[in-house]
Amino acid sequence: MLATTTQLTPFSIGDVTIDTPLTLAPMAGHTHYAFRKLCREQGDCGLVTTELLSSSAMQNKGSFKKTLTMFDWHADEFPVSVQLFGSDPQEMAEAAKIIVDYGAAMIDINMGCWVPKVAKKGGGAALLRDVCTASAVVEAVVKAVDVPVTVKVRSGFEDGVVTAIPFAKAAEDCGAKAIAVHARFAGQGHSGDADWDVIRHVKEIVSEMPVIGNGDIHTGADAKRMFEETGCDAVMIGRASLGQPWIFQQVAHYLRTGEDLPPPSRSERARLALRHAHLTLEHCNLRESQAVLELRGQISKYQLDEPGSVQVRNRLVRCDTIADIDAILQPIIDV
Ligand SMILES: Cc1cc2nc3c(=O)[nH]c(=O)nc-3n(C[C@H](O)[C@H](O)[C@H](O)COP(=O)(O)O)c2cc1C
Repeated sequence: MLATTTQLTPFSIGDVTIDTPLTLAPMAGHTHYAFRKLCREQGDCGLVTTELLSSSAMQNKGSFKKTLTMFDWHADEFPVSVQLFGSDPQEMAEAAKIIVDYGAAMIDINMGCWVPKVAKKGGGAALLRDVCTASAVVEAVVKAVDVPVTVKVRSGFEDGVVTAIPFAKAAEDCGAKAIAVHARFAGQGHSGDADWDVIRHVKEIVSEMPVIGNGDIHTGADAKRMFEETGCDAVMIGRASLGQPWIFQQVAHYLRTGEDLPPPSRSERARLALRHAHLTLEHCNLRESQAVLELRGQISKYQLDEPGSVQVRNRLVRCDTIADIDAILQPIIDV
């Protein structure tokens, strides 16, 4: 029997309409323009977000130049949300103004990152230790820009202390236009299961602000269950999109029809991996050798090996040039 279908209702973040309530999670080292474009091209990816940018790096001339190379959003991917991290309200407000001047359609404030480089300075998930400071950051950014401001949070910073719920209400009162909830505590990293009850509670406490549920969606059935169990307005997909930019289309198809689409053929997966590589080279500001170093980990996720073999993967993680990548993938595409 087919699973009953779930409506894919568009939703709005402030005055921006998101056609499909399936969004790509921000992922440092992955969600650059090339990957965002690929997800969009495959269909049904309603909103994409850049990887996180440091607000403090924008305050001094030296580091600003380097951060500028991360301003990689293009008009053709509208609406794109740009993620900022930091803990100082004024610094965050200044940074937000700069990136809106550079064309960001939306600002997302990172309150989910737990890595010491970010959290030790009070940014990312560490902001959730203190709802007042976190709210002051939201308020300052909202006042500084005329585009919608959203926040991405974890359940809380300390294990078992759920701050996402009171904070969601405070953020909405400060003018935030959406909240994405990764239903794990900071200390969990990506381990253990996400506790979607937190998403449900956040949805219950806010008035109008859309809630985007996040954590452990790998299939259409997972997405359907998250919509049903939490009442969220949209879902956000992270790790399951890596090496599978078609996941949004697959999830959408399941939600529309109750049926799973077969995965793309091996040849099609190789074609997309190659497109990922060429788009990256075309649009990143890196030398070929550096870009290929980053691409090794990304394109080796496209599951191009025959069952029981790791040959293709092993060759991809040793590539030095785009010609090396072409030489491995083209024969698979041509089969
Ligand atoms: C490699 C990697 C990088 C990430 N970088 C960011 C980031 O820059 N900003 C952020 O808010 N979350 C970041 N995350 C967290 C994801 O956005 C998402 O919340 C998390 O992976 C849970 O979703 P999933 O179960 O669908 O993967 C990152 C996750 C991964 C795996």
